Amino acid sequence: GAPVEADLSKIKPGEMITVEWQGKPVWILRRTPEMIAALQKNETALADPASERAEQPEYVKGAGRAIKDEFFVCLGVCTHLGCTPNSKFVLGAESGMGQDWAGGFLCPCHGSQFDLAGRVFKSMPAPTNLKIPKHTYLSDTRLLIG
Ligand code: FES
Repeated sequence: GAPVEADLSKIKPGEMITVEWQGKPVWILRRTPEMIAALQKNETALADPASERAEQPEYVKGAGRAIKDEFFVCLGVCTHLGCTPNSKFVLGAESGMGQDWAGGFLCPCHGSQFDLAGRVFKSMPAPTNLKIPKHTYLSDTRLLIG
């Protein structure tokens, strides 16, 4: 399929947009400094914190799984059976996910939980982290997916 261009200039900190690429949802989450800091919080609870098993391009290695930590680009498709997870960006007890919840995604189908870098928590039905599609920055505010 053809690459798709996304405009990052209208995404406010803490907000996420979805663009369609190859018939699939691609999320672009603009992470706040708090969200970026929260990525370190639950590393021991993650199944594959360094994304050794997960599919991702070489250039997004590391905890943030992003070219720029501020913009997280991810395929919004659960690696279990392909549902679309919901975003759960509220941190802590107010999220309904427990006191330690540092924000992330929750799959409504069988309950898989992912952090704000799409990394799956241990003992979830989903076997791997969410997939990162190939992407390139055309400028500071223009992203090419695919
Ligand atoms: Fe997401 Fe099963 S499809 S947990």
